[in-house]
Amino acid sequence: MSITAIKGFNDLLPAESGHWQFIEQTARKVFTRFGFSEIRVPIVEKTELFCRSIGDTTDIVEKEMYTFNDKGGNSLTLRPEGTAGVMRALIEHKLYALDSLNKLYYMGPMFRHERPQKGRYRQFHQIGAEVTGAADPLIDAQVLLMVSRLFQELGLTEPQLQINSLGCPACRPAYREALVAFLAERQDALCEDCRRRQATNPLRALDCKVPGCVEATKGAPSMLEHLCSDCDAHFAAVQGYLGAAAVPYSLNPRMVRGLDYYTRTTFELVTGLLGAQSAVAAGGRYDGLVEQLGGPAVPGIGFALGVERVALLLGDRSFAQSPDLFIAVMGDAARLAGFSLMAALQDQGLRVETDVEGKSLKGQMRRADKLQARYCMVVGEDELAKQSVSLKRMADGEQQTVQLDAVAVAAAVTGGAST
Ligand code: HAM
Repeated sequence: MSITAIKGFNDLLPAESGHWQFIEQTARKVFTRFGFSEIRVPIVEKTELFCRSIGDTTDIVEKEMYTFNDKGGNSLTLRPEGTAGVMRALIEHKLYALDSLNKLYYMGPMFRHERPQKGRYRQFHQIGAEVTGAADPLIDAQVLLMVSRLFQELGLTEPQLQINSLGCPACRPAYREALVAFLAERQDALCEDCRRRQATNPLRALDCKVPGCVEATKGAPSMLEHLCSDCDAHFAAVQGYLGAAAVPYSLNPRMVRGLDYYTRTTFELVTGLLGAQSAVAAGGRYDGLVEQLGGPAVPGIGFALGVERVALLLGDRSFAQSPDLFIAVMGDAARLAGFSLMAALQDQGLRVETDVEGKSLKGQMRRADKLQARYCMVVGEDELAKQSVSLKRMADGEQQTVQLDAVAVAAAVTGGAST
């Protein structure tokens, strides 16, 4: 029996890799425009890093991590997200001392042992960005502006930006108490998970999809009404900047994130097009995280998008790289001339294909069609003798006669590109 891939771990096949390259290239372009540099960190980290950052009582740490002991008996984990590793690197290499402001981006695979379904996988890919060193609400707005511009450049207008503030260690305890008191009165209506989490992570009840919990938490106290004056002013300023840059958003006071490190501004880009998996990108501020991991008190904010989910939203859009020219050949001399013409045209940056399978002329034309070549030419004895060739534009069949040399053919093919 042949060996198959592990459940929830997917191959990226050529039909889809164009989508991914477009997403990655667009992200690099937008991030660079906003002054971000790339960082690459390991896929495997010490388990403790994720327990201390994401939080012991989160679903990710409680249920979803790929954790194993290596041969030396160390507990290691395949990273379930990118922020923890990037902050570990920031501390380990003292990047905060080299520059008070660090703007970093990353892309790569993450691993969570969730139940696979459309848009949810066990190995999935994130593209993320993190800024450390700035507590100013302007940075929150800049990150949100960048996320919004990224989706604009991807041509995706549908995901809606929702924002919330989760307060800070000064105001969240009082909110938590108010919420726990509210939930205590509705104990019987809550699911087992939410009842269990009341002591450890009561905010998760606001995010629970079980219908009884959704109903029971209607009218629950809102974090936004419990913000201390500093958090309130911070959140108001973020919204002021978003207004100034005309970034569309809506408030979602029920948004709680599945990771414990968040403070103040949190956000999600949500879509109605992916069924149960509504978040395409998400992030927020994490002012205490670097200190919690043993570094200095450096504030931070960032986000990550799910590449698979963005690719699903791009849907049927074609990113296929079809050749500029297919050179069909008849006879050995033409084959040699076609090969050298191909080499010269490729050196000029054109995408050129020729026959490599010894196909008949008809077979070669079928291949040119399949590849959706923009232009096609047939080189045979006649063309070699005259040193001229008929160049056919495949879209409309228009033919022109050009000299059989790389400069003339390149000029005709690129000149035709804009028509
Ligand atoms: P997150 O909300 O856990 O946040 O994940 C971010 C995005 O990753 C989600 O919105 C979703 O698009 C994608 N994603 C998550 N899990 C899966 C999955 N099982 N399959 C497919 N896609 C998935 C974080 O990970 C934070 N580190 C984001 C952040 C960066 N916050 C601050 N900085």
